[in-house]
Amino acid sequence: MAGNWKMYKTPAETVAFFEKFRPLVEKSEHCEIVICPPFTNLTSAVEAVKGSPIHIGAQNIAWAKEGAFTGEISGPMLHAAGATHVIIGHSERRQYFGETDATVLKRTLSALEFGLTPIVCVGERLEEREGGRTEELLKSQFAGGIASLSEQQFAKIVIAYEPVWAIGTGKTATPEIAADAHRVIRGQVREKFGKAAADSVRILYGGSVKGDNVKSLMAQPEIDGSLVGGASLDPVSFASIVNF
Ligand code: PGA
Repeated sequence: MAGNWKMYKTPAETVAFFEKFRPLVEKSEHCEIVICPPFTNLTSAVEAVKGSPIHIGAQNIAWAKEGAFTGEISGPMLHAAGATHVIIGHSERRQYFGETDATVLKRTLSALEFGLTPIVCVGERLEEREGGRTEELLKSQFAGGIASLSEQQFAKIVIAYEPVWAIGTGKTATPEIAADAHRVIRGQVREKFGKAAADSVRILYGGSVKGDNVKSLMAQPEIDGSLVGGASLDPVSFASIVNF
C-alpha cells in the first residue's frame, strides 16, 4: 500500500503525519507500507518512521548518477537520504513534464542500479479509454519501457496501473475495469518474462482509492495493492486504506 503525497506537506507536517499514522499501522503486517513525500521531506520522513515497518520512497529519480542536470535528484542521493522506493512515470510526470516510455526505462534502470524499488506507473487517458484504445496503450507503454529490463531486473519492480481519468477526479475505476487492465498488463509480463514473473509481479491500482472503495478493489485477485494520492495525506484515512 503506497501513498503518493505529490506536492503536499512541509517537513513539520510530515512529522505530524507520522506521529498520528504510526500507531494506527503498528500491527499491520499483511502488507508493505510505503509513503512517498516530496524530496524535501525525505530525511524528516525517514527519521519519523525509524523502528517502524513503514518504508519511504521518492516521487522521481534522475537517470544519471550525478552531473549537470539542474532540478534532478539521483539514485545515490535518494539512497543516502534513506529512501527505499521510487515512483517512476507517474501520469502527472508524463502529462506535464515530458516523461516518455524511454525516460521511464532509463529512470527504472537507475533506481535498480542504486538499490531502490521502482514503482512504475502506466495507464490510459480518458480519450484512449473512450476510443477503445486502453489495451493498445497499456501494451505500448509496457513494450516501450519496462519490457526492456532483464528477467532479474524485472523481478525487482512493482507496477502501478493508474488510469489517468481516475486520478484526483473522484472517479474510481470499477474493480472489474481495474482488474481487466491488470490482466492485460500481467498478460504482457507473461509473454515477455514468463509465467513465474507474471504470477509474482505486484500490480497496484491507483486512482481515487479511498477507505470506502479499497475493499472492493482489493477483493479482485488481480489487484495486489494500491497507490493512493489524495487519501494518503490524512493519517486516519490512509490507515483505513492500509487496514482495509
Ligand atoms: P488519487 O491519486 O488517489 O488522488 O486519485 C493517485 C495517484 O496519482 O497516485
